[in-house]
Formats: sequence, structure tokens, C-alpha cells
Amino acid sequence: MNKTLVIGAAGQIGTELVEELRARRGVDQVIASDIQIKNLLTPCYELDATDPDKVRKIVQKEGISEVYNLVAMLSAKGEKEPQKAWDLNMKTLFIILDLAREGKIKKIFWPSSIAVFGPSSNSVGAPQYGSMEPTTSYGISKLAGELWCQYYFQNYGVDIRSIRYPGLISWRTMPGGGTTDYAIEIFHSARRGKEFISFLGPETRLPMMYMEDAVRAAIQLMEADSEMIKIRTSYNLAAVDFTPAELFEEIRKFYPGLKISYDPDLRQNIADSWPDSINDSHARQDWGWNHQFDLKMMVKDMVNNV
Ligand SMILES: NC(=O)c1ccc[n+]([C@@H]2O[C@H](COP(=O)([O-])OP(=O)(O)OC[C@H]3O[C@@H](n4cnc5c(N)ncnc54)[C@H](O)[C@@H]3O)[C@@H](O)[C@H]2O)c1
Repeated sequence: MNKTLVIGAAGQIGTELVEELRARRGVDQVIASDIQIKNLLTPCYELDATDPDKVRKIVQKEGISEVYNLVAMLSAKGEKEPQKAWDLNMKTLFIILDLAREGKIKKIFWPSSIAVFGPSSNSVGAPQYGSMEPTTSYGISKLAGELWCQYYFQNYGVDIRSIRYPGLISWRTMPGGGTTDYAIEIFHSARRGKEFISFLGPETRLPMMYMEDAVRAAIQLMEADSEMIKIRTSYNLAAVDFTPAELFEEIRKFYPGLKISYDPDLRQNIADSWPDSINDSHARQDWGWNHQFDLKMMVKDMVNNV
């Protein structure tokens, strides 16, 4: 009765998180679920995470003790349907929080994002505690969600753990509609020998992380002793930060013929509202976070695998 359920398992993070959790705990101990399951390996369920009865049934049937809840509509996609993004992001969080409040689940991982920051936040080294006035529906839902996580911890003792992820770079799946997707798409253009048209301008600096680090961080946070977790909203988490022009130069070392042009769209406004870099000293102090991939290592691994 100690299994792990990953909800939203077919997405960019879920695909790699499920694989890593199964490698550590055994395939049968990790149940994958998503609204679309064609890429999932068994044991898995087709699950609409907005349906509380269906989520409850799987939790009970499988003897789930911890949930990684990865369902969300991301920043860029969410700006096309802001109300829908809010509804999905909040509803799927509350269903899991309430199951934990009833004692049906022991521990929850729910990722937040650098989207909780806004134009009034510090642009360089945005601190854990500072001004946060997000301008996107996605960012508003993440900030509200963080506060509800803390509320459920303080009032009902729910063991919820969260990370404010920066933009995540990976090669196994295509990204799910975020503002940092350009940093994955450029590798696919390079491999196909196509000119890359960046939807962010050359000097747009954003915090980023390689997926291997992101997955390790989630598992490390979930395995940390409860007393080490001092923040129950969400931890700032950082690895690297770079601009499209800097990433292009690094990739060009492998693909000298790669060309880039810049055609910023609405995602530029979102990127401009986010910090250039994040201060994650609390995560490093409290539970020993340390990233491994710098820009060079990340680009080399992406080039080898895309
Ligand atoms: N990828 C990033 O760069 C990044 C950065 C910061 C935070 N995050 C957060 O991490 C989490 C996962 O992100 P991701 O990039 O893997 O997203 P993604 O869009 O790639 O994956 C989300 C998954 O949720 C599934 N889903 C959507 N609606 C569902 C529903 N009603 N029921 C069940 N499943 C449903 C989708 O099919 C998809 O497989 C999200 O909460 C996101 O906000 C991601």
C-alpha cells in the first residue's frame, strides 16, 4: 500500500520522472496516468484528473501513498484560454490536496514555476521572498496554488512539497506550450538543418534547467526528511540562465551551419515579465539541492540525443 501515482505522466516532465521512479522503486510500484495514454507503459491508467471520483478510485484500488501531480496548462497555451488554464490548474490541485486532507494520500509533489514572478520582482537573482505579481493566468494559478499548498500544510498537516521550476530542457518529448519552448525547438531545427526562427529576442535571458536535474530535484525533495522542508509554498530552484543568442552560439559549436533569425511574438511579453535569474539558496541550504548540468553539458547531451 505504498505505491506512487504520477498524474500528467505523458508530458515533458512525467515521461522522464516515471522512468526514473520505476528504475529506483520497481515498475509495479509506480502507476502512470494521463488523459491521453498512448505513450505510457503499464501499469497505467487513462485518467481525467479533473474527475475527483476517478482519481479517488485509482488511489484506493492501487494503494497509493504519494502523488506527483503534474497536470497543468502551461504559460503560453494558458494565455490563449486564461479561464480554462485557471480552472484546470486549480481543480486538479484541490482534488489531490483534499484526498491528502482525508488521509488517503501521505505525500504530494506539485510543481510551481518561475511564472509566479512578475515585472515587480527582482530581475537578477529573484529571491524566495519578494514581490510577486504574475501577469499570466498560469502564473496567477501557480501563485494561488502555492498559497493553498501552504494552507493545507498549516491547517490540515498535508505533506505537500513543491519547486518553482525554471524552463526545462529535454529531448524525450516535445514541450507542452511554455514560454521557454524555443530552447528545445532550436535543437530540432539544428538536427534537421533548418534555419531556426526564435519567438524570443536574442537578449532575452531566462532561468533554465536540464531535465535530469529537474527529475532528481523532485525525487530528492520528496525523499527529504519532513523537518528539512521549511518552505511549504514552493522552493525557488535554479541551475543555469542564458539568452537565445548564447544558446545559439553554444549549439553552433556542433552545427556550424545553423542559422537563426528572431521574430518575437506574444511569448516575448511573458518572458519579459519573468526574472533573468533566480536565487535558490533556501533549497540548497534546507535539503541540499545542487544542480549538475551547466549550459555546455546540457547542449552536448541534447545534441547527442535529439
Ligand atoms: N516544462 C517546464 O518547463 C515547466 C516549468 C515550470 C513548471 N512546470 C510544471 O510542471 C508540470 C508538468 O509540466 P510539463 O512540462 O510536463 O507539462 P506537459 O504539458 O508536457 O504535461 C502535462 C500533462 O498533463 C496531461 N493532462 C492535461 N490535462 C489533463 C487532465 N485533465 N487529466 C490528466 N492529465 C491531463 C497532458 O496530457 C500532459 O501529458 C506542470 O505543473 C507545469 O506547470 C513545467
